[in-house]
Amino acid sequence: SPDRPLAGRRALVTAGPTHEPIDPVRYIANRSSGTQGYAIAEALAAAGADVTLVSGPTTLPDPAGVHTIRVETARDMLEACRHALPCDIAVCTAAVADWHVAPAAQKIKKTADAPPPALHLVPNPDILAILGRPGPARPGLVIGFAAETEHVLAHATTKRARKGCDWIVANDVSPGTGIMGGAENEVTVIDATGCEHWPRLDKAQVAHRLVARIATFLQTPPNP
Ligand code: C5P
Repeated sequence: SPDRPLAGRRALVTAGPTHEPIDPVRYIANRSSGTQGYAIAEALAAAGADVTLVSGPTTLPDPAGVHTIRVETARDMLEACRHALPCDIAVCTAAVADWHVAPAAQKIKKTADAPPPALHLVPNPDILAILGRPGPARPGLVIGFAAETEHVLAHATTKRARKGCDWIVANDVSPGTGIMGGAENEVTVIDATGCEHWPRLDKAQVAHRLVARIATFLQTPPNP
């Protein structure tokens, strides 16, 4: 039906930061609030999709009508995403930590004479790149986000190719834009055919516009 264009479709959305423990009381995190991803999950559900939201730690309530799975680390997020497959649409908005450390079993103590502990950083899996890999389990439409502070379009275009996603939604998160953790977003959608710049909009409006674009794409797939 026109108001539920994604009825019968399955969607996976990742959102929020990840927390990578250092010891039982400390962790590495980032400034992602989850707002944009939650809004996308809610808009996909409102359009009729069966939505699984895999969320890192946030203060947001579970979106209405969405199956929300809460995780802490990037590795947990990947595991939960794998369980949500197969799906038709994957939207990776999560600000996944790039690295984790092998956490200490006990709280690391500071000692007066000893040097500060060094953190040995180990790369995390790239969830978007894994979902974008060609193969039978690949979602039909894989969408990534690229939060950049400079050379936004150039970096995002490179990222789209490197991660094997169909669309990348690029945004400028420089200090002063108020975007990371804020209520508004100003994005450029990059696909195989080019760039589409959208005006500064409420994150809920960005979500609705993205979902409308997804619905149009799935109705009229490009010629092979
Ligand atoms: O490489 P970068 O973090 O800038 O790429 C951003 C995009 O990749 C986002 O869509 C983000 O959700 C996704 N990503 C991911 N797993 C990672 C790192 C990024 O899914 N480990």
